[in-house]
Amino acid sequence: MFKRHERATATPEVTITIDGAPYQVPSTLSVAAAVLMHQGAAGYRRHAAGGHRAPLCMMGVCHDCLITIDDAPNRQGCLVTVEQGMRVRRQLDEAAATATRWDTANHASGDEQRGRDDADL
Ligand code: FES
Repeated sequence: MFKRHERATATPEVTITIDGAPYQVPSTLSVAAAVLMHQGAAGYRRHAAGGHRAPLCMMGVCHDCLITIDDAPNRQGCLVTVEQGMRVRRQLDEAAATATRWDTANHASGDEQRGRDDADL
C-alpha cells in the first residue's frame, strides 16, 4: 500500500527502541510512522475489547496513535519526530486498563459489529 520514496533512503537514520528492541528509522519520521514501519497497523495498539487500533489521521486529530515515549504514556505518536535513543513502548496491554467509558461504549465492539478480524488489517 505504501512505498518509501527514493529520497527517503538518503535520510540519516536514528536508532530507537520499540518495546526494548532496537530499530533503525529515518530521522524524519514521526514515532507513529516508525512504529507502523516496523510493527504494522495490526501491531500498533489495542483497544479495551482487544481489537486493533492504529493511527488514522496522522495529523493530531483522532488520538488513535497514543503511545508511550520515554516513559511518558498517551503521547500522540503522529506529532512527535523520532530522536536518537528514544524509547517507545506500545500500549498493547495498558489499553484495557486505561480505556475510557467512551472507548468502551463506542469502539469496544466496533470490529465485531463489522465482522473484522486480524486478517482485515
Ligand atoms: S494518528 Fe490521529 S492523532 Fe495521531
